[in-house]
Amino acid sequence: MSVRRLAPEAVQPKEFAFTPANDDWANGQIAKYPKGREASAVIPLLWMAQEQAGGWLPQKAIEAVGRKLGMPYMRVFEIATFYTMFNLAPAGEHFVQVCGTVPCHLKGAREIIKVCEDKIGPQSTVSADGKLSWLEVECLGACCNAPMVQINYDYYEDLTPENFAALLDNLRAGKPVKTGPQVDRSCSEPLGGGETLKDKALYDGSAVGRGDWQARVKADREAAKKAAEAAEAAKAAAAAAPTQPPATPVLSSSAPAALTPATSTPAASRPVTGSQPTNASQDTPAAGGAAIKGATTAAEVRKDAADAGQSAAAVQAVSDADKPAMLNAPRGGAADDLCLIWGVGPILAKKLNGMGVYHFDQIAAWTPKELAWVDAHLEGFKGRAVRDSWVDQSKKLTTGWRPDSKLGERPKGR
Ligand code: FES
Repeated sequence: MSVRRLAPEAVQPKEFAFTPANDDWANGQIAKYPKGREASAVIPLLWMAQEQAGGWLPQKAIEAVGRKLGMPYMRVFEIATFYTMFNLAPAGEHFVQVCGTVPCHLKGAREIIKVCEDKIGPQSTVSADGKLSWLEVECLGACCNAPMVQINYDYYEDLTPENFAALLDNLRAGKPVKTGPQVDRSCSEPLGGGETLKDKALYDGSAVGRGDWQARVKADREAAKKAAEAAEAAKAAAAAAPTQPPATPVLSSSAPAALTPATSTPAASRPVTGSQPTNASQDTPAAGGAAIKGATTAAEVRKDAADAGQSAAAVQAVSDADKPAMLNAPRGGAADDLCLIWGVGPILAKKLNGMGVYHFDQIAAWTPKELAWVDAHLEGFKGRAVRDSWVDQSKKLTTGWRPDSKLGERPKGR
């Protein structure tokens, strides 16, 4: 907490009086309280005095409020010096209040203060151009978006030294700035997007009148628990299963006869009928022969393999001229979560990264030939890109849409 003293004599104006309009407004505030309790209007009157004086409270303004309310000056000084909403010295055109309380401190308020010192100067002094001044204050009530500052009437949250320095530069230059969070989130939702209240049934009226909601919630939880247990069991079974010899290349073969081994894959390897496989099983290459993702019956397995066989045939026609543009590293240092594409698991995502594919918009822009080129180079996963409609899925993901499951959304017909 900073020391709160009146500004030095040299900057104090010789007098202060409310303008007629502000005086009328002050009388309106005082009239809200019973006779003998006029002092209750001290905060709004001090606020208006600060507004009129240009963003700070000269001593004469504090005294004028005391006279107006019939209060001893000392009582008014006590209030003006206690609340940091009142500035006791001239402030810059953009007055920065930096929260230094524990949550903001833990999230980097010290670095934000360092930026203030570097770009503005010592606390409670106005920069040479009169544009900026700053003050460390206590919690401003936006802790979950820490670290944050208040500048005049707006909050700026999720600050880093870099985005805050740019913010000050833009304010100084009179450029427009974005208020609120300085990262890609709305208000105070979780970083990365909201995770609750996403069930559409909550909003379409279908949940209304569905009887005993407690029993319904209990049943839903039981079903979710059973599904999770079944998925875990399937995962454990898949991990314990012997590795198939890689010499049975179902997807890489163009000959339908080569699909035969896949049809003999036991349907029991699928965890739960109709449920999505785990990420690990998404990555399980059909070439391994363990299972083709999502297939429950021998007929489905044959269809999957046939689809893959078609793409493998198409793949044979591609040339290196069809190779799509690749990146050396993810843009901005952060790759998209390619596992949100249904059919892509951690291993396949890593393989794609290794090829130079990091972002949904890269995949969304692939032509059929480029897609075929990628398919041809997905060792162990050939045919996946076409079969699982990666381009269509990625186009949807580039809009910001996200699937309900971290495994992605199963494409229609798959
Ligand atoms: S701790 Fe900084 S806003 Fe609450």
